Amino acid sequence: MNKKEILENIKKEALNNHVPIIEDEPLKLIEVLLKIKKPNKILEIGTAVGYSAINFSKYLVGEDSKLKTIEIKEAMYNKAMENISLMDLDKKIEVVLADAGEYMKSIPNEEQYDVVFIDAAKGQYLVYLQEAIRLTKVGGIIVADNMLYRGRTLSDYNDHKHRTATNRLREYLEIMKEDERLDSTLIKIGDGLAISIVVKK
Ligand SMILES: C[S@@+](CC[C@H](N)C(=O)[O-])C[C@H]1O[C@@H](n2cnc3c(N)ncnc32)[C@H](O)[C@@H]1O
Repeated sequence: MNKKEILENIKKEALNNHVPIIEDEPLKLIEVLLKIKKPNKILEIGTAVGYSAINFSKYLVGEDSKLKTIEIKEAMYNKAMENISLMDLDKKIEVVLADAGEYMKSIPNEEQYDVVFIDAAKGQYLVYLQEAIRLTKVGGIIVADNMLYRGRTLSDYNDHKHRTATNRLREYLEIMKEDERLDSTLIKIGDGLAISIVVKK
């Protein structure tokens, strides 16, 4: 099997197992951004089986380029490691088994990223955003997936079940608009992508 076929299989297997991987349209948009940005360092929050990390890693530029991705579930971490190995990307992608919020807080200021992709616990999106701002270079990009939360974020949805996550996503949208360090837009493709450029620190 060639790499393209292996990646197709990773995608198929994830979808068959109901693993929530990035949808095709947002993936395409991020790939275009990455092609323009030519990142040397990418940080991903929420690995699952490594599907988005593997796709993004194609756009890393430079010998020392690297993508670091954080996952809290051991079973996902193990599957991601297996998939990354199958794709021969062990040297380019580092998977960290940790709570992303806690782990991000432990990253020193000197470790700066060109692109941060947020795709984990929605109730933690504000923590991820604040840490992402700290860890993204000026001119770097912060992308957050699932901002529409299947229609809940921009509606008057207020059911108990998803209330905290919905409120956090609403707050994220407010902050990304108002924070002077960011220039942001919400793109309504897939489940909604928030894209912010860090314009100053
Ligand atoms: C939407 S999936 C990620 C999909 C992946 N980015 C892709 O597109 O291929 C979200 C992942 O975040 C992980 N996650 C949830 N809470 C987390 C946390 N607090 N820290 C790290 N990972 C977390 C979940 O276990 C799940 O695997």
